[in-house]
Amino acid sequence: MRKACIIGYPVAHSRSPLVHGYWLKHHGLVGSYDKAEVKPGDFQRFIHAMPEQGYGGGNITVPHKLAMLALAKHRSPAAVAVGAANTLWFEHGEICVDNTDIEGFVANLDAGAPGWDRNCEIALVLGAGGASRAIIYGLLQRGCERVLVANRTLSAVEALVQDFGPKIRALHWQDIPRQVPDVDILVNSTSLGMVGQGALDLDLGGLPGHAVVSDAVYVPLETELLARARLRGLQTVGGLGMLLHQAVPGFERWFGLRPAVTPALTRLVEADVEAGH
Ligand code: ATR
Repeated sequence: MRKACIIGYPVAHSRSPLVHGYWLKHHGLVGSYDKAEVKPGDFQRFIHAMPEQGYGGGNITVPHKLAMLALAKHRSPAAVAVGAANTLWFEHGEICVDNTDIEGFVANLDAGAPGWDRNCEIALVLGAGGASRAIIYGLLQRGCERVLVANRTLSAVEALVQDFGPKIRALHWQDIPRQVPDVDILVNSTSLGMVGQGALDLDLGGLPGHAVVSDAVYVPLETELLARARLRGLQTVGGLGMLLHQAVPGFERWFGLRPAVTPALTRLVEADVEAGH
């Protein structure tokens, strides 16, 4: 029996067991995907003990993503670029890691706004945290010429400019309205708009009609940002799909079969989000 788990602290909120559990059942595989609540002080020991506990790998969430990258013997270019690892497996007993948020981000856009990258000269990313790094990497990988990044704390953007190079430009929050008419794709990676957080107060009036608007936030499933963009007739892509698509490569590694993000899986997880579990 193949086993994987999500490792975090806390981990109770994670929807990954729902997603992987669905795929295991759907494909009739004998396997399990558990929650492992592991304190930072126990993290290293837990990881090294995983093979003898029968685990083929797992996902890593807060607060272990940086420690996971540091502990790994083999790191994917994506994990190095993002500076964090969210997926782990073992090869000949050695620790290998990847960051699948990039793939999750681009696959979600491919599914929700096919052809989005055909006309993607200027992207505007709000936020400069962990999710933002994966999003910027994905945008550059798919050919965006310039990525404007606006964040409450400007020093975080300056670090991104250093790491990702001249295609990244820092943008002051108050200058967003002036840039918006040139933007082909707008992505929110801040926690603004999430239930319990502040509102993302942004005037979208100037966005061109072909612009795509996406939000990494998925609680609520349709944020105010997305609702306003939809009412304006713009293409919108919600954040839940990023969570679902980032899970695909991990499942394939641990259980040997590439699963699909289907409408049935999406509805299952949407119902869970709506129920507030
Ligand atoms: P994640 O891994 O989801 O990206 P994170 O690394 O904690 O989470 O980043 C959160 C992002 O949301 C940051 O860009 C943060 O801005 P700061 O760098 O200024 O902290 C942004 N954010 C969170 N709360 C915010 C708020 N109330 N107003 C504006 N930006 C906020």
